[in-house]
Amino acid sequence: MSQAEDHAGTRRDFLYYATAGTGAVAVGAAVWPLVNQLNPSADVKALSSIRVDVSAVEPGTQLTVKWLGKPVFIRRRTEEEIAKARDVEMSELPDPGAENANIAAGAPATDENRAMAGKEDWLVMMGVCTHLGCVPLGDAGDFGGWFCPCHGSHYDTAGRIRKGPAPRNLPVPIAEFVDETTIKLG
Ligand code: FES
Repeated sequence: MSQAEDHAGTRRDFLYYATAGTGAVAVGAAVWPLVNQLNPSADVKALSSIRVDVSAVEPGTQLTVKWLGKPVFIRRRTEEEIAKARDVEMSELPDPGAENANIAAGAPATDENRAMAGKEDWLVMMGVCTHLGCVPLGDAGDFGGWFCPCHGSHYDTAGRIRKGPAPRNLPVPIAEFVDETTIKLG
């Protein structure tokens, strides 16, 4: 490596770390007044955001984790599940809203607007039926998604309500991949 290349590499590293550092400071500054004001216990702070290792989740299976006292379904969908979710007219959906906290309110409930951004096989949702709060069963129901046995609500493979008394799609919480195998909730 020439001296010039070496220097360029060092400079890139410096820029990278400087940018990361600036981001961290900005977040800290924004969050601090709230934390300071509420002064939550260490437990509450730890729970408000969690990281989940999804490396063992095979296509066609799901992981259920507890977050903020509620179950969260993290499903890795098969090609068929995705195709099924996409082959639906919006007019067939009782709840036309995406119910996705990661995108603008009022966005339509397309499969693209429900799945993880850039990773269509992953679907993350609160595992709480929007009727009266039971926990729906996976791989069940008339639409091959989730079924709530309490009063018979059927959700499809994008977690959208399709039949039964539940009024809304299963909500998608704030979630993102922070590396290839880790999802951060909150
Ligand atoms: S609580 Fe799920 S259908 Fe009533």
